[in-house]
Amino acid sequence: MIRAATAVAHPNIALTKYWGKLEGMSRMPSVPSLSMTLDGMSTTTTVTFEGALERDLVVLNGNAAGEKETRRASELLDRVRTAAGFDLRARVESANDFPTASGLASSASGFAALVVAAAKAAGVGWDAARLSDQARRSSVSAARSIFGGFATLAAGVPGRDVLSAEPIDGSIDWQVAISVVVTTLKQKDVGSTEGMAHTSNTSPYYPAWVASAPRLFERARRAVLARDLEALGVVAEESAFAMHASAMAATPALIYFNPVTLAAIERVRKLRQEGTQAYVTMDAGPHVKVLSLAADTAKIAAALREVPGVEKVLIAKPGGPAAAKSGDRP
Ligand code: DP6
Repeated sequence: MIRAATAVAHPNIALTKYWGKLEGMSRMPSVPSLSMTLDGMSTTTTVTFEGALERDLVVLNGNAAGEKETRRASELLDRVRTAAGFDLRARVESANDFPTASGLASSASGFAALVVAAAKAAGVGWDAARLSDQARRSSVSAARSIFGGFATLAAGVPGRDVLSAEPIDGSIDWQVAISVVVTTLKQKDVGSTEGMAHTSNTSPYYPAWVASAPRLFERARRAVLARDLEALGVVAEESAFAMHASAMAATPALIYFNPVTLAAIERVRKLRQEGTQAYVTMDAGPHVKVLSLAADTAKIAAALREVPGVEKVLIAKPGGPAAAKSGDRP
């Protein structure tokens, strides 16, 4: 018996950050987060459950995945298999159409595409909330890539096992954009999962970050509802710098910025002084993501391409939800 399905999902950029997990629970965020899903960049994943396979086989961008990555995919597939009531192993083929060095979280689009393809192939009939909850169990930020436009994800509640992201209605039509400023082609050295664990374990500023995040999140949510770019941009910068400050105060310090990161931040501040609405955010890597009006991206990208050390600038508008491709056999 063969059951196969293909799904496409987009990465997302958090404008108020998730950074830290609740202790003793499976991938429950300690803070709420709000993100924009990106169009133009996507992960496409095909899952084929096959009777003849002895174990799950995972191919990422044409190469066999390592043990750790295969195990993380298998854990998600196990939850789908349990819901479907069968035990077929799967072949998973996943590819990103955006450069790995762009520092865009491929785990977000990767696990969102994987859960949508696996659920469709297995015929479990999960709705978007269930898909989001299941994606979260593999990578918290993936919960948000199930939805298009802007999405929110609440903080976890101790003792409550289920948590899904939610879309902000109509936000996909907001004419804003995020320009991804690639500041190095080297791979990052400390991933998000490890970085936030190190921060929560050793940073004296981690409790302050957790305490301040809900207010930042609420301001961002209201700003998106009001389609107020300035309010969103200001709070996005506060959230990003607060997250990075908590990481920098870890022992040893976790510094994700490189000199080009700082030069790009400086250039965005100057653009603002010159009258362009542009705001920065940075994740667990040295790249700078610039939030602006969609109409201003050409000017912003041109300015940032001139900053010495900037490798390239990719531009994305709000993207659509993760979706199965039609025509697959259920
Ligand atoms: C800085 O979702 O990759 O990008 O849940 O451990 O898989 P895990 O972490 P992940 O962390 C993303 C952190 C961030 C901020 C964000 O996307 O909210």
